Amino acid sequence: MTLACPFGTHRVLEPAGALPQGAKRLDNRMEIHSNEILVDCETLNIDSASFTQIRQEAGDDKGRIAQIMLDIVKQRGKHHNPVTGSGGMFIGTVKAIGDSLQGQRDLNVGDRIASLVSLTLTPLVIESIEAIHLDTAQVDIKGQAVLFESGIYAVLPPDLPQKLALAALDVAGAPAQTAKLVRPGGTVLIVGAGGKSGSLCLHEAKKRAGVSGTVIAMDYGAAAVKRIEQLELADVILDLDATKPVECLRALQGATGGGLADLTINCVNIPQTEMTSILCTRDGGTVYFFSMATSFTAAALGAEGVGKDVNMLIGNGYTKNHAEITLQVLRENPRLRQQFMEIYA
Ligand SMILES: NC(=O)c1ccc[n+]([C@@H]2O[C@H](COP(=O)([O-])OP(=O)(O)OC[C@H]3O[C@@H](n4cnc5c(N)ncnc54)[C@H](OP(=O)(O)O)[C@@H]3O)[C@@H](O)[C@H]2O)c1
Repeated sequence: MTLACPFGTHRVLEPAGALPQGAKRLDNRMEIHSNEILVDCETLNIDSASFTQIRQEAGDDKGRIAQIMLDIVKQRGKHHNPVTGSGGMFIGTVKAIGDSLQGQRDLNVGDRIASLVSLTLTPLVIESIEAIHLDTAQVDIKGQAVLFESGIYAVLPPDLPQKLALAALDVAGAPAQTAKLVRPGGTVLIVGAGGKSGSLCLHEAKKRAGVSGTVIAMDYGAAAVKRIEQLELADVILDLDATKPVECLRALQGATGGGLADLTINCVNIPQTEMTSILCTRDGGTVYFFSMATSFTAAALGAEGVGKDVNMLIGNGYTKNHAEITLQVLRENPRLRQQFMEIYA
C-alpha cells in the first residue's frame, strides 16, 4: 500500500492537476492506498437537483434512470451528474482501512457510516442497482466506494433509522448554517420550505429567531404546504411558484405588511429561483443559496439588474458540527422526526 495525496489527486485521470471534485474522470479501481478507506455501499442518496434532472430525462422510467446512473459512473468513475454538477452521498459498511489510518481514527472495519463528502468526488463502482425509490431519491445498490484521507464521514447513530439519518445528513449543511445565520428577532424566508433541507431549516430558524422573530415558509403546491403546516414552525406560509419573482415579492410584502426578509434561505430543487430569493431580501440582508440548482451568473447579474445590495452566500455543504446539529434537530423535534420517518424510513 502506498501513501497518496490526502485530497485524492492521485486518482484524477483528467484534467491533470485538478482536485477530484472538479475532475472529469476519476480512477475508481477499488484497490486502496494506505491513507484511503474502502466501503461496501448499500444506498446512494442522490442529490435532489440531480435526481430531479435524471427523472425528467428518463421520463420516470426506472430502467432508464438506472442506465443513466450507470453511464455517469462508467464515464466519470464517480456519480457526478454532468447536467446539474451535483452528486449526493452514500451509506455503507467499512470494508478496509488503509495501514496509515489504522489507530488514528475512531473507526473500525464493519462500522456503518454515511459519507459527508459529495459523490461528485468519491470513486465509486456500481455492480448492480437493486431498487430505485422515486419518492426519496435514494437508490439501493451493490457497490463500493473509496474515501480519501481528507474525506469526512459520520458513524451512523444507533438511535435513528439509517435511511432517515442518510436523508438528513445529505443536507446537513443547511440547518447548521441556518443556526449560525439567524439572529433573534429576525425575519427569515425559506424558499422550498416543505422539502428535506427546507424543513430542517424551518426548525433552526424558528428556534434561533425566537418569539420576536418571523419565519416565512414558501413552497409550491398543496402537498408541500400540508407538510409545512404539520410542522407548526412557520408564522406565514406562502404557496407560490418561486420561479415567478415579482409575484413572490408582492405576496411576501402583502403577508408581512411591506417587510422584506433579513435572511433568505433557498432550498429549492429546480433552477431559476435566484431572483425570488434576491427580491424578497432587504438591502443589506443575506441570501443563502443552498440549492444546487443555483446559477452564479443568474444571481450575480440579476441582483445587479434590480439594484439589490444583498450578501450572497454559496451553500457550502460543510460547516463545523453540521452532522451533529442536523441529527439533533430530528431528536428534538418529534413532528419533524415523524414526518421524516413517514417519508424516508
Ligand atoms: N449545498 C449543498 O451542499 C447541498 C447538499 C445537498 C443538497 N443540496 C441542494 O439543496 C436543494 C434542496 O435539497 P432537498 O434534498 O431539500 O430537496 P427536496 O426535498 O426535493 O426539496 C425541494 C423543495 O422545493 C420545492 N419546490 C420545487 N419547485 C418549487 C417552486 N417552483 N417553487 C417553490 N418551491 C418549489 C419542492 O416542492 P415539491 O416537493 O412539491 O416539488 C420541495 O419542497 C437541492 O437543490 C439540492 O441539490 C445542496
